[in-house]
Amino acid sequence: MQFHALEKLMFLEDGYRREFVLQGIPMLLLQEEGQVHLIRNQCPHRGQAFTTADVSNGRIRCPGHGWSFELASGECRLPGPGPCLTRYELDSQGNQIGVWLPD
Ligand code: FES
Repeated sequence: MQFHALEKLMFLEDGYRREFVLQGIPMLLLQEEGQVHLIRNQCPHRGQAFTTADVSNGRIRCPGHGWSFELASGECRLPGPGPCLTRYELDSQGNQIGVWLPD
């Protein structure tokens, strides 16, 4: 496993969003309502990026066709049970937040 530093902790605040590509996977680091999330930046419906998605009450709404997902669990809430949002567990090393990925 290898730690990939993404951002300095001091730069995170509500409304923060930044795209990354790690190991060929598009990812979105975001902070909303005090919670920091790292998700695959590709909707499981038809692949739309979440970069401009609305977030409220812990849910992110895809700008493509309006599907809604729980950020904490990845579960699809609208239109109903369906493919989940891919989430990545974050970790911190020193003053950096990042993610561990296989080598
Ligand atoms: S691409 Fe996200 S809801 Fe269709």
